[in-house]
Amino acid sequence: MAIRNIRIMGDKVLEKKCRTVEAVTPRIRQLAEDMLETMYDAYGVGLAAPQVGILKRLVVIDVDGEHPYILINPEILETSGEVTAYEGCLSLPGKSGLVTRPEKVKVRAFDLDMNPFELEAEGLLARAVCHECDHLDGIMYTEHVEGPLRDNDYQEDEEEE
Ligand code: NI
Repeated sequence: MAIRNIRIMGDKVLEKKCRTVEAVTPRIRQLAEDMLETMYDAYGVGLAAPQVGILKRLVVIDVDGEHPYILINPEILETSGEVTAYEGCLSLPGKSGLVTRPEKVKVRAFDLDMNPFELEAEGLLARAVCHECDHLDGIMYTEHVEGPLRDNDYQEDEEEE
């Protein structure tokens, strides 16, 4: 495994629509492993492939440090409820902003064996799924932010996606 360089907002790769993963090659498997390691290294709870410069529909999420998810070609099927909370992004370090997201989501994705599965998520996991899926369409959370971004350098427990 290897830690990859996280692209910072302003990098054009973060504004592009990602391509569908057609098959899990050794290269894709390596990418998923590296993304998890990169996310943990940066104390993040989610990371999307374009954040490491790869325009493929692949995201990794782990909101509690114990349940890593790898979602290939994720597609949000259903959402319900609304929650407004601060959220951040590893591609915009030290900042966060208020974003309204669904309280619950049902997402369909493929695993590393290209088997489809569905995940029902709520709370922070639902927020992370929405945030990471947005990255695959070139959307940063700043497009949804209500009010100004805040500086959170002093908050060590901030969760960044
Ligand atoms: Ni992000």
